[in-house]
Amino acid sequence: MAFGFCLGVFILLSVWPSVTCSDLPRGAIETACRDRYLLVTTQLSFAGNEPRFEAVDADGVHPITKQYGSECGYMFSILPLPGHAELRASYFSCHTDNQDDEVFTFSFNLITIDANGVETTYHVNANCSLPLPWSPREFSCEENYMEVSVRGDVSGLPGTKADNWTAALATAHSAAMSTWQVMFQQEGQQLTSMSFSEARELGYVFHLTQGRLVFRSPYTGSVMGSVTMVNGTFVEMVYPILVSRQRWVVIMVNLVVACSTDEGMYDGAGLVWQTPTLLSPLVSELSGLESSKISFGVAGQLLDEPITAERGYSLDISDTTVQISIPFNADGGYRKSFVMDNMYHEFYVVRLYYEQTFMDDSGVETRLRLHRPMNTPLLIQHPSIINQTVLEARVFTVYLGNLSYDVDLVAVKLNGHNFTILEANKSGLVITMVSQPNSNLHAYVLRVPFDSVIHKLYPTEGLLEYSLDINYTLVILPQEEPYYYLASVVAQFNDVFPPVFKGVCNKKSISFQMDHKPFDYLWEVGVGPYLLTPNLAAKRGYIMQNDSQSLILEVPLFSVGYTYKDINLKQFRGTFEILSRVPKTLEVKSSLAKACLFQTTEVIVCSTEGVVTVVTDVTLAVPGAEPNGTFLLDATCRPQETDDTRARFSFGLHTCGTRVQVDHQHVTYENEINIEHTFQSEAPVKTRDTASVVTVRCVYPLSDLYKLFAYWRFEADSPGVGTILTRVPVKIFQPNFPPTTLTTTRRPLTSTTTSNTGLSPGRKMPGIHPRAKYVKVFSWQMNQPKGTT
Ligand SMILES: *[C@@H]1O[C@H](CO)[C@@H](O)[C@H](O)[C@H]1NC(C)=O
Ligand SMILES: *[C@@H]1O[C@H](CO)[C@@H](O)[C@H](O)[C@H]1NC(C)=O
Ligand SMILES: *[C@@H]1O[C@H](CO)[C@@H](O)[C@H](O)[C@H]1NC(C)=O
Ligand SMILES: *[C@@H]1O[C@H](CO)[C@@H](O)[C@H](O)[C@H]1NC(C)=O
Ligand SMILES: *[C@@H]1O[C@H](CO)[C@@H](O)[C@H](O)[C@H]1NC(C)=O
Ligand SMILES: *[C@@H]1O[C@H](CO)[C@@H](O)[C@H](O)[C@H]1NC(C)=O
Ligand SMILES: *[C@@H]1O[C@H](CO)[C@@H](O)[C@H](O)[C@H]1NC(C)=O
Ligand SMILES: *[C@@H]1O[C@H](CO)[C@@H](O)[C@H](O)[C@H]1NC(C)=O
Ligand SMILES: *[C@@H]1O[C@H](CO)[C@@H](O)[C@H](O)[C@H]1NC(C)=O
Ligand SMILES: *[C@@H]1O[C@H](CO)[C@@H](O)[C@H](O)[C@H]1NC(C)=O
Repeated sequence: MAFGFCLGVFILLSVWPSVTCSDLPRGAIETACRDRYLLVTTQLSFAGNEPRFEAVDADGVHPITKQYGSECGYMFSILPLPGHAELRASYFSCHTDNQDDEVFTFSFNLITIDANGVETTYHVNANCSLPLPWSPREFSCEENYMEVSVRGDVSGLPGTKADNWTAALATAHSAAMSTWQVMFQQEGQQLTSMSFSEARELGYVFHLTQGRLVFRSPYTGSVMGSVTMVNGTFVEMVYPILVSRQRWVVIMVNLVVACSTDEGMYDGAGLVWQTPTLLSPLVSELSGLESSKISFGVAGQLLDEPITAERGYSLDISDTTVQISIPFNADGGYRKSFVMDNMYHEFYVVRLYYEQTFMDDSGVETRLRLHRPMNTPLLIQHPSIINQTVLEARVFTVYLGNLSYDVDLVAVKLNGHNFTILEANKSGLVITMVSQPNSNLHAYVLRVPFDSVIHKLYPTEGLLEYSLDINYTLVILPQEEPYYYLASVVAQFNDVFPPVFKGVCNKKSISFQMDHKPFDYLWEVGVGPYLLTPNLAAKRGYIMQNDSQSLILEVPLFSVGYTYKDINLKQFRGTFEILSRVPKTLEVKSSLAKACLFQTTEVIVCSTEGVVTVVTDVTLAVPGAEPNGTFLLDATCRPQETDDTRARFSFGLHTCGTRVQVDHQHVTYENEINIEHTFQSEAPVKTRDTASVVTVRCVYPLSDLYKLFAYWRFEADSPGVGTILTRVPVKIFQPNFPPTTLTTTRRPLTSTTTSNTGLSPGRKMPGIHPRAKYVKVFSWQMNQPKGTT
């Protein structure tokens, strides 16, 4: 049933705000007819400003204040759920239209005040048809009032001892009037007699409906009330007797009402409430009243036994007391949280509803209904942390549970990095809210991949430890009080070692293999200072194969990264090193320098120490030339080793007449291998001539040679790029050998000499010809200067 509709807008400030009725969300105001009252619930947000109700009837508008509500049968409360409020209006409440005790028509104004102080009024109307027939006598123990109604035709109502009747009768007789009077009995005191209007002044309301007499008393501690201990429970009682004397007939109606005042006790496990099994003031020895049925529930509704059992509620009925226990946190209650000194406190609230039926020996039924909110004291709570990490998944999974509905997670600090929930999701962390089964609690599951924000430690060899320090920022709603909760998790792996490389010598290359292991990502594979990437491999001519099993790298001879040693005409030693290191610190963790012997054909090596070693086939330039007859620019520099076709020279870059040329990027060293020709001229005299036919060149980047200029010491950061340029005769070799017939591919050296190197100035090379037939380049680099090939 029903709803409210928007009535109008009142102005508090000097502005005219506009509130439209369509703003009212569905379910914002709802009504429900319960056994003996109308329930109005609202879920309108009322931050700070409590809403209020007015009862509306033909006489006008009646604000439902605390006191007025307790006198007139209205109970208004703000629930411990944010934005929730409810009003319970008795079917006998003052401003309710009652048709034959069967149909009740209610009309209310609900007034809300928004943050700007603007009031909005909603009109709430509801009709209820009695859901359950009236018992002859009914008690209602509300939070703020006690109400009893008795059927009008009941005579000789139970609950009054004979002598009390006698006393009342005596008082009634002495009263000289024909109208109704009220006499209040109080334990051990004289009867107090007064008119209805005097009683009304004291907060007591009597009224007669079509078929019932109703009495309502504010609760607790009204003037005529008294509190007694009945079988270990305090009971509040008000004992009015209505008297009307008309001539010799005296009519007396006993309207005693009593309710347990027990507010529930927290016993460490839950809330326990009790009431006497027989509320003795309601029970007359004469009438033999007996308790016949007890049921209970929460929030104004009775629950079936299976449900209460499932929720862990318990009901204990003994001869003297009825005891109800509701465990802390059981479904049906609410938790309310607070932060104090960064400690998370909460209490648990449950709104007990209790119904008891009594039967007297003549089968006349009495029903008692009771509403009792109960709460635990403030308890310190610890959210619970469960480490759900599965190592193999390589993700920290941390469960933060036992959070009440009014606690929200807003941010996490992970190893010192702040993330709001939204940022966390963007950063590849996952935070999900989950509800906890069988409770109204919720939890958050945080998933952080090991390799995202985690410290990596290697306390001992082979041990890998991930640790995550979490500082949760929780807020308590609605006041958004922050609260920090800390947790730490670690994950450890054993036998975690850097990659292992295997090297194999091939005829013209070295192959490396690295089998992939799960923790490879902790290290990077490098060649010298460079990171091995497909790009680097492509640039340097390495052949890289990387699949899920292993990484295979084949490094062809003479590609960048090799070092050479022990060069002779037969063989030389080439070494290539591959290594693994920690990406951040570049600390080398493992390496393999694979050295292989390669067969020598021709080679040029420009070492970092400034020594050039070259093995070249001189007969390519001058067929039939004798390698042992070759020399460098400085003719005293002869080959160290020769065979039929090849000569091996090894000389310092600052010796043997080596020329040097410096441009703004490179230092180029150049020497020439001269071949002594002996050929027969027409004359019988053997003529000797020499031709410079092989140019040997080493190019170093200028930046690699800063030590040369700083300390006059040759020490390059990396080997130079060596080139052997062999000028090949264009024409068939002729006896009249003119050097002009030789071709070359390079420009002559024309540049400077430096006095310290003692090199002679560059000279124009004769016979420059663009057609190169044979140029060999033995090594090259990524930053190879343009024009050297
Ligand atoms: C209640 O009943 C009256 C008639 O008895 C009717 O006019 C009114 O519309 C009803 N209101 C609601 C909210 O059902
Ligand atoms: C009823 O009468 C007895 C005996 O006179 C007295 O002790 C008791 O207080 C009376 N009850 C009330 C409620 O006044
Ligand atoms: C319970 O209270 C009633 C009335 O006060 C009394 O008669 C009865 O003996 C009490 N029972 C127990 C077990 O105390
Ligand atoms: C909630 O807290 C209780 C006690 O503090 C504990 O026994 C229970 O295991 C926790 N439940 C969850 C899901 O964390
Ligand atoms: C994290 O957030 C807090 C406040 O929420 C701030 O004080 C702190 O400086 C932040 N830390 C970092 C590393 O951003
Ligand atoms: C985080 O992102 C995933 C998809 O990437 C989404 O399914 C999830 O709902 C998001 N969680 C939050 C709290 O936004
Ligand atoms: C947790 O984070 C909050 C807010 O950034 C900070 O005030 C608090 O000191 C942190 N706690 C610890 C132990 O780091
Ligand atoms: C958390 O779980 C992981 C994986 O099961 C385990 O290695 C670790 O010891 C646990 N405890 C803590 C405090 O992190
Ligand atoms: C090889 O492939 C793996 C993925 O299979 C990748 O993680 C790794 O970085 C690759 N290595 C290189 C050097 O490219
Ligand atoms: C060079 O070697 C050849 C034979 O290999 C020999 O005949 C010749 O005398 C040698 N010349 C010199 C200068 O050593």
